[in-house]
Amino acid sequence: MIILKNEREACGMRAAGGVASVVLREVCAAIAPGMSTRDIDNYAAARIKNYGGKSAFLGYRKYPCHVCLSVNNEVVHGLAGDRRVQFGDIISIDVGVSYEGFIGDNARTIAVGGCDVLAQKLIDVTEKSLYEGIGQALPGNRVVDISRAIQNYVEGNGFSVVREFVGHGVGRSMHEEPQVPNFVENKSSPRLRAGMTLAIEPMVNAGSADVEILRDGWTVVTKDGNVSGHFEHTVLITESEPEILTCPENCQLRMQAG
Ligand code: MF3
Ligand code: CO
Repeated sequence: MIILKNEREACGMRAAGGVASVVLREVCAAIAPGMSTRDIDNYAAARIKNYGGKSAFLGYRKYPCHVCLSVNNEVVHGLAGDRRVQFGDIISIDVGVSYEGFIGDNARTIAVGGCDVLAQKLIDVTEKSLYEGIGQALPGNRVVDISRAIQNYVEGNGFSVVREFVGHGVGRSMHEEPQVPNFVENKSSPRLRAGMTLAIEPMVNAGSADVEILRDGWTVVTKDGNVSGHFEHTVLITESEPEILTCPENCQLRMQAG
């Protein structure tokens, strides 16, 4: 069952999305060569707490960290640890925050200092593919219209979309219906309606789409070792344009940043 949000609930989603987006921006700004992924996770935990939020990931199916930090060939769900990020690495940061009963979920991939041309193209194509998908998040369209826009843009640029992990409805729970694949599936796809809130999150590989999970039980890596990118926004479908809930610019926190 797809849970439509009324105006009150949409306001709750705006607040949660706002916190998640401000935290993601702060974490991205803090990342520098030499930091360990544990340092980054600790910093994210402190920023989430500062706004009165809670990590939506910590403890979810026993997930052990506050955010997901996935470096280079890691696709998603990377675990924080002793690894230090270096100049030239790319890192995907996924921040899910629970705030006053609602969840905001967003992610982006950044270069640590700088990166090579291929990794930068991957970052740019992955981000643009997210906006291609969001552009189809219109009432009357179907979920598959989002999926198709993402897949066409990614594959048109010579990269591949991960099949094993998909976007999702989000609300009071992190994962609600419907699933939002980043590729076209040969099955019926729900109609989009105003009041739906979706986490749209393309995971894009520079090489083949195939992934595997490391022995830690969480970290998803590319099978061929090539780099991977991940961008995510939480989006509200309205009668007109989609509203991106995870934009710091749209965030009207009642709380003082500090
Ligand atoms: N953005 C991802 C998702 O929505 C992050 C989940 S991490 C987990 O599925 F640890 F909570 F699983
Ligand atoms: Co998500």
